[in-house]
Amino acid sequence: MTARTSLASWQALHAHARQMKQQHMNDLFAADARRFDKFSIQLPSLLLDYSKNLITEQTMQQLLALAQDCDISGWREKMFTGEAINRTENRAVLHTPLRNRSKTPLELDGENITLQVEQTLAKMKNFSDKVRQGHWKGYSDKRITDVVNIGVGGSNLGPQTVTEALKQYSDNSLNVHYVSNVDGAQIAEVLRPLNPEKVLFIVSSKTFTTTETMTNAATAVKWLVSASFDEQAVAKHFIAVTASRDNAKAFGIAAENIFDMWDWVGGRFSLWSAIGLPVALDLGFKQFIELLEGAHEMDRHFRQAPLADNAPVMLALLSIWNCTFLGAQSQAILPYDQSLHMLSAYLQQAEMESNGKSVTWHGEPVSYPTVPSIWGELGINGQHAFYQYLHQSNNIVPADFIGSVESITPVRGHHETLMANFFAQTQALMSGVDEAQVRADLATKDRQQDYIDKVAPHKVHKGNRPTNTILMERITPKTLGSLIALYEHKIFVQGIILQICSFDQWGVELGKGLASKIQHQLETDETAAGHDSSTAGLISYYKKMTSK
Ligand code: F6P
Repeated sequence: MTARTSLASWQALHAHARQMKQQHMNDLFAADARRFDKFSIQLPSLLLDYSKNLITEQTMQQLLALAQDCDISGWREKMFTGEAINRTENRAVLHTPLRNRSKTPLELDGENITLQVEQTLAKMKNFSDKVRQGHWKGYSDKRITDVVNIGVGGSNLGPQTVTEALKQYSDNSLNVHYVSNVDGAQIAEVLRPLNPEKVLFIVSSKTFTTTETMTNAATAVKWLVSASFDEQAVAKHFIAVTASRDNAKAFGIAAENIFDMWDWVGGRFSLWSAIGLPVALDLGFKQFIELLEGAHEMDRHFRQAPLADNAPVMLALLSIWNCTFLGAQSQAILPYDQSLHMLSAYLQQAEMESNGKSVTWHGEPVSYPTVPSIWGELGINGQHAFYQYLHQSNNIVPADFIGSVESITPVRGHHETLMANFFAQTQALMSGVDEAQVRADLATKDRQQDYIDKVAPHKVHKGNRPTNTILMERITPKTLGSLIALYEHKIFVQGIILQICSFDQWGVELGKGLASKIQHQLETDETAAGHDSSTAGLISYYKKMTSK
């Protein structure tokens, strides 16, 4: 297969990028009144405006040529139809059938995937209805009031991001809590106010071997058993979501309390599986299905829309343009909607664990920048923290601004202030203000010339900073499902173009392995041997201090 860098479209983009770096978006907008119409896509759930990027029609044609040369359409079909595109683990990548509300039949290795998904959904419905209606009773025959999800990474971020985003849709039948960190402070804090008789624990782990999750689950079992004086209580208070039934059973979870997921669902794409059970418990199963419907709507758009009108494809191409060709190294996610306060954390895992890699799928070093680091914060809060850097530092940080036309928690006057800032920021980042304008403004304020000379350079904003604007109609289970699926598909397209294996995560293994060796040294008299002098020194110091 041809190296990406040998493609004519790739080389043309490099040459084009050199020219475009000399351009300013102000001039591009001045030259073309139809820029917004040309560079925006309207979908039922959202509007994507990408006109405030350093692009022209030629840029987009060349990026689309690259997408074609990389056979995005072909790879897309391979994913949807269950080819083993997770090459390093030889697995299919099938988060899309989890939310295929058309229930299109799909077989994998002779198994009917659609049937398995529907059976698990039916089990989730029965279970969540039973708990929410108070028919599932704890060891002392009391109804469940609180659910604690124990899981980390993909077994935490998806459901927690969604329950946080959709709080307004909860009828508060149950209080849902999340424990992900192995720092005991978190589980202690969560359990402190809870009554063990009324708590249901979900141990969510695809592998059911993750140390953090197993440690927290063991602590939760001890907490329950020390309150109930009855080991049998575990059967009424613990359920598991996992692809490793045997491990869950060995842990002590009753077989009927295990919800299946499968090795063809990646952890960071697993929200749509039974990993989403906390969402169904919190909001009700109907709302969970609406979340799936929203994602399915985005799947259909991604699969069917021509590349030029395809929102996930465009987001991926623009990221590649900004990072690989124009040199940006990080990307900000800036939601102007309180409900999306965990979105940047969610997308950090989704994009960085997927594509933060430095060999191609042929195992060769990549010779070009791949994906940016992802970071972000809620809109207005970020403005008073790091936007200074976005506007005036020498580093260009492309940013996605995500807002809603309608607030789900309207408070008179607030939404207009929020959205005025939302629109103003992308405009300011794009247009900036030059020194002549700064001087003219200061002069109208009757400033002395020496003050103007001193201050003017500091007030210059170069502008020309790329942003995408995603405007949702309103955050609902459905539109949120579409938004998350939009980013999932963006990540897929990025991976294909950059020739990155997006669906493994070997990079988290090395530290995990070292941690288990070090843990043994911390817990025993074993000396801190086999380490560099820094690590050995730190471990010895820690052991000396803890033994005081
Ligand atoms: O951080 C690595 C990782 O494997 C993620 O990909 C995954 O989402 C997380 O750990 C949790 O894994 P598991 O669901 O197997 O406990």
